[in-house]
Amino acid sequence: MNFYVMTLFPEMVLQGVNTSITGRGIKAGAISVEAFHIRDYTLDKHGKTEDAPYGGGVGLVMQAQPIWDCYQAVLKRIEENHCASEQTPGDQSDAPEDNDGSSQEQMAVCGRAPGKPRVLYMSPQGRVFDQQFAEELAKEEDLVMLCGHYEGVDERVLELMDAEEVSIGDYVLTGGELPAMVMIDCISRLVPGVLGKIESAEVETFTDHLIEYPQYSRPEVFMDKRVPEVLLSGHHANVDKWRREQSIERTLRKRPDLLETAVLTLSKKELKFLDELKLRVAMEEQEEDADEEEELIPGAPDGI
Ligand code: ADE
Repeated sequence: MNFYVMTLFPEMVLQGVNTSITGRGIKAGAISVEAFHIRDYTLDKHGKTEDAPYGGGVGLVMQAQPIWDCYQAVLKRIEENHCASEQTPGDQSDAPEDNDGSSQEQMAVCGRAPGKPRVLYMSPQGRVFDQQFAEELAKEEDLVMLCGHYEGVDERVLELMDAEEVSIGDYVLTGGELPAMVMIDCISRLVPGVLGKIESAEVETFTDHLIEYPQYSRPEVFMDKRVPEVLLSGHHANVDKWRREQSIERTLRKRPDLLETAVLTLSKKELKFLDELKLRVAMEEQEEDADEEEELIPGAPDGI
């Protein structure tokens, strides 16, 4: 899978993704990340990529021209990459020396129509990125990401690229680079060959819409706290059951909003467990409320 990031801070993106597991995935060839510096494509002799908004207002808007030309370079690169991956080494000599980006010429070289890649524009106004969205995007071969800055991007270039706005959460960052890096990290680990066996993506938070069960490692006792006995038993069925129940309980306590979808994946026994758990949690909450009231009354001002 190939990521093409259009940015004013290519070094920031590349340093980030070339580290840790994504860096290893890049070295292994499971993913590639190329950063395109938008400033390299401006026709402005001072290297400007932004200007004041028409109609007035504060801040600067990223101009359409540098982004559009940068996007053309990305499309050309995608096509080159496709052709390179389809050619055997012996075929290379047939390729034209200098490719002017004409799709007909490219089709003649590698025999495939250049499909339009999905273009994502990092913006707090976009569809919120979550695990399901990551799984959807991980099926793409190429993803183009535009990192915005300033007060936004000229709307016309977003329309021309048919860009989808994507947000990583309801807060505003100074630019789209961190969101792009977050998304690349999350999507990459779903691409075969990025995670090793040891970091398997199979059993984890949000799979089945459940939160992950608690984990423990050596020693058995730490600061008087013991590892749950079942995990030392060697009884795999009991361990699996305990972990599943822990996942259900944690989801109910920490992220009850996930349960609406999660219940569809639960067995009859697990649904019964959930019903009992809900009663227990409701009773605990009642007890906590009663305790709080009791604490308030002794020192309460007159009138209570
Ligand atoms: N750019 C600024 N804030 C953002 C956010 N929350 N998500 C995506 N892109 C952004």
